[in-house]
Amino acid sequence: MKQALQTVLVTGGAGFIGSAVCRHLAATGRYRVVNLDKLTYAGNLASLHDLDGHPWYRFYRADICDIDAVRHILQAEDVDLVMHLAAESHVDRSIDGPMAFVTTNVLGTTSLLSAALDHWRSLSESRRKSFRFHHVSTDEVFGDLPFDSGVFTEQSPYKPSSPYSASKAASDHFVRAWHETYGLPVVLSNCSNNYGPYHFPEKLIPLVIANALDERPLPVYGKGANVRDWLFVEDHARALEAVMTRGEVGESYNIGGRAERTNLEVVEAICALLDARRPRAGGGSHLDLINFVTDRPGHDRRYAIDPTKSEAELGWRPQETFETGLARTVDWYLENGWWWRPLREQRFDGSRLGLVGAR
Ligand code: NAD
Ligand code: DAU
Repeated sequence: MKQALQTVLVTGGAGFIGSAVCRHLAATGRYRVVNLDKLTYAGNLASLHDLDGHPWYRFYRADICDIDAVRHILQAEDVDLVMHLAAESHVDRSIDGPMAFVTTNVLGTTSLLSAALDHWRSLSESRRKSFRFHHVSTDEVFGDLPFDSGVFTEQSPYKPSSPYSASKAASDHFVRAWHETYGLPVVLSNCSNNYGPYHFPEKLIPLVIANALDERPLPVYGKGANVRDWLFVEDHARALEAVMTRGEVGESYNIGGRAERTNLEVVEAICALLDARRPRAGGGSHLDLINFVTDRPGHDRRYAIDPTKSEAELGWRPQETFETGLARTVDWYLENGWWWRPLREQRFDGSRLGLVGAR
């Protein structure tokens, strides 16, 4: 007999947000969590050490492009819900090597949709009704906002600027097509920039913390005036559970923390936290390490999410402000060098500014 727990297939569960989702879902006691991840450079099982030996957690190393492997996992694990996070996620890498983004984000999502549709069709009527395919997407699909006006709502037109955001936009369209054409019960969410523990140190916040701790330059693109809207990753994980379980089929939900900051403000806030917690050996502020570098091509000026629909319809609210979340994040990186230091020693091809460990 099927257990009372629902089985969630999380794709990309060894990544930054996916690992927070696996930890969150397992901690609720409401789900069996099945993590499917290819373990690219961005996937790291060390991020899931909290779940070692957990009775309701399982890991499969697989590629979402491998439809036979995905079909097998869906059936063998008797999956009730799919939360799809697996993706190539770094904008700078998409500028250097767009094809990996097309392969995983577009073809991989389409392959996953096909496998999920076959599985959904094989379920009993009552389980077909409660089945969900939750596609986790980004605010970047809406493109560039002026500095001084506008916010993204669920009705904002798609206008992606980078190969990354174009590939995510394409995947959103395929997800909607599988709902409209085949009736697959989908929900979508589009979230703003996340930050927090286990964030790969190629992204702005962990890169700046790690570089500052190692007395390396802090690379700020252009003048640091671009604005991002920040959300603590654990708040996103709670929002994703709400969308998956309470979201209306066929709908999308914008998720964000109403925390717009310029990149320079973010870097300065990290420097202030580090100055207080880990003063530089030679004196002076970490601010002295800031280095303005060549801008990212096609760099969107500003993102800003209007999360009113998620707040009103799902009853979700972030628990962290940007200030409390950033302090928690800096403290986590200070205490968990065992996690991020080995990642910086690896050498990766394709990073726009060269080797991650050498910056
Ligand atoms: P991440 O790069 O940290 O993790 C991606 C994970 O997907 C990794 O574990 C990787 O191994 C896995 N993966 C990649 N290709 C795969 C494939 N072909 N098959 C199976 N697994 C594969 O990404 P993240 O920052 O955790 O983002 C997760 C999702 O959330 C992505 O879809 C991203 O577009 C979306 N998103 C991210 C943010 C953000 O700020 N990080 C904001 C909004 C939306
Ligand atoms: O908005 C959501 C998106 O946020 C997600 O969909 C992406 O997966 C995620 O990577 C993130 O994209 P960004 O490009 O906004 O994140 P990143 O950390 O790369 O950059 C944040 C801002 O900081 C951006 O304006 C570029 C700038 N930046 C970034 C790096 C890595 C710098 O100034 N210096 C840097 O070294």
